[in-house]
Amino acid sequence: MSKKNYDVVVIGAGPAGYVTAIRCAQLGMKVACVDEWLNRKGEPSLGGTCLNVGCIPSKALLESSHLYATANNEFSEHGITTKSIKADIGTMMARKDSVVNELTQGINTLFKANKIDLIRGHARLVPGNIVNVSNRGDNKIRESLQTDNIVIAAGSSPVRLERAPRTEGHIFDSAGALEFDSVPKTLGVIGAGAVGLELGSVWSRLGSDVVLLEAMDTFLMAADKQISRAAFSSYRQQGLDIRLNARLLSTEVKQKKVHVNYEDTRGAQQVQFDRLIVAVGRKPNSDHLFGDEMGIEIDEREYIHVNRFCETSVPGVYAIGDIVRGPMLAHKGSEEGIMVAERIAGQKSSVNYDLIPSVIYTHPEVAWVGKTEHACNTAGIPVNVGTFPLVASGRAKAMGVSEGLVKVIAHKETDRILGVHICSSQASELIAQAVVAMEMEASAEDLALTMFAHPTLSESVHEAALAVHKRAIHIKN
Ligand code: FAD
Ligand code: NAI
Repeated sequence: MSKKNYDVVVIGAGPAGYVTAIRCAQLGMKVACVDEWLNRKGEPSLGGTCLNVGCIPSKALLESSHLYATANNEFSEHGITTKSIKADIGTMMARKDSVVNELTQGINTLFKANKIDLIRGHARLVPGNIVNVSNRGDNKIRESLQTDNIVIAAGSSPVRLERAPRTEGHIFDSAGALEFDSVPKTLGVIGAGAVGLELGSVWSRLGSDVVLLEAMDTFLMAADKQISRAAFSSYRQQGLDIRLNARLLSTEVKQKKVHVNYEDTRGAQQVQFDRLIVAVGRKPNSDHLFGDEMGIEIDEREYIHVNRFCETSVPGVYAIGDIVRGPMLAHKGSEEGIMVAERIAGQKSSVNYDLIPSVIYTHPEVAWVGKTEHACNTAGIPVNVGTFPLVASGRAKAMGVSEGLVKVIAHKETDRILGVHICSSQASELIAQAVVAMEMEASAEDLALTMFAHPTLSESVHEAALAVHKRAIHIKN
């Protein structure tokens, strides 16, 4: 067994872990990153959930399915005619796999360029600042790493439901739903959250009849109500059948169909699907990482307990990304990794947890940052609100994407922007200007006094900021 010494050992090469490793190396530390991910061919693959079965493959399929739906539904309006449009799922999946492959290989290259030791295998912490590495699935220690600091970035896995267990060919988790070999005629999705809406959209655009069964009575709880209402109505028009208040009772696979029993406000309901996706959240991968003797505190929901600097209860051991509190988002984990690396190097870095942007990559997209109007009202914060509908945007009209709105919430007395909420095409890009403005502590007036190029969708952000003081030009205030 080999024994090596490091300044930092990072466990996990997802967006939290690989970014930490790179930043530590940039700061002159000797770094190892241990990762156990194997792709479906059984080959090691860096990038964790995000690159392998999350952000990237889902966006590749969202893009392909969007192009298909656009060609089918909108080309004729532009005077473009085609003989017949077919979706070749095999080619679509191969493209997605090649995007994933290029990006995961890219992390290998970055690790080499930064002289990071990449160690494949399962990491386990033991007292004395040691990380033991074994092959995935066996307990035989292959390498022992002595280190001054440990950063746990072991991520999360899909929550499983006993009432809807994964069943080959019928009941899938999010990773399985990125691998369908054909378009199911009918598709059920348990959970109308980020995964349900994005993957439901992919298969709906490709021709499935999609029903989403959501347990809560409110759609997209975390979003601003005005925005979630706009998104809900738009999804309904596209054919996504979203049923709220739906409590799953049981599932059964019979005669190649998934029979789902659920209860809603009207009583017991039954529905059948060719395939079912379970998308009811993710849970932190905090088991199998260390024993009680390490003294690392875990909370009741299995997240590793950390303070705002991602320090665990054990000095020199940090935890970041999906395995700790906060939204399970790639960019949140990456920023935590940069903070931790810089703090190990003696810098005073921090993460602004109030300004984490959220995006749902449907069409239109939904994106927000900061407080909702409801949260401001509940907290007794006096606000002025400006909204601008995309239907009044020249560029949106020209592009044929006039659904949705931009909403800017500013403090009534200081005018400081407290939240920006968007339902529109390219909301994922538009929200970045709100994050920049809010990070600079801008007022609504600052945005209103800024010049935006015409014609752009960004002008809608400008108009919504103007509307905060009833000065929008292209709508009646
Ligand atoms: P992970 O990415 O889960 O990486 C953890 C890594 O640690 C894995 O490689 C794992 O194998 C490894 N590991 C675990 N335990 C050990 C161990 N003991 N030893 C060695 N290695 C170990 N987020 C966004 O921000 N935008 C999106 O558009 C988005 N889309 C998503 C779409 C889907 C379908 C899903 C499922 C998720 C999506 N997410 C998205 C969420 C995002 O993928 C996660 O927030 C992100 O991957 C978390 O990063 P992480 O580094 O904390 O963990
Ligand atoms: P989620 O937490 O976003 O949504 C899960 C939904 O399932 C919730 O609306 C919840 O009320 C519902 N639910 C829970 N139990 C249920 C039950 N028994 N029956 C019916 N409904 C039930 O989780 P999701 O969609 O699985 O995504 C996991 C994580 O991945 C999220 O934290 C999200 O942040 C991240 N992600 C981010 C994306 C993005 O940033 N665009 C895209 C996809 C995932």
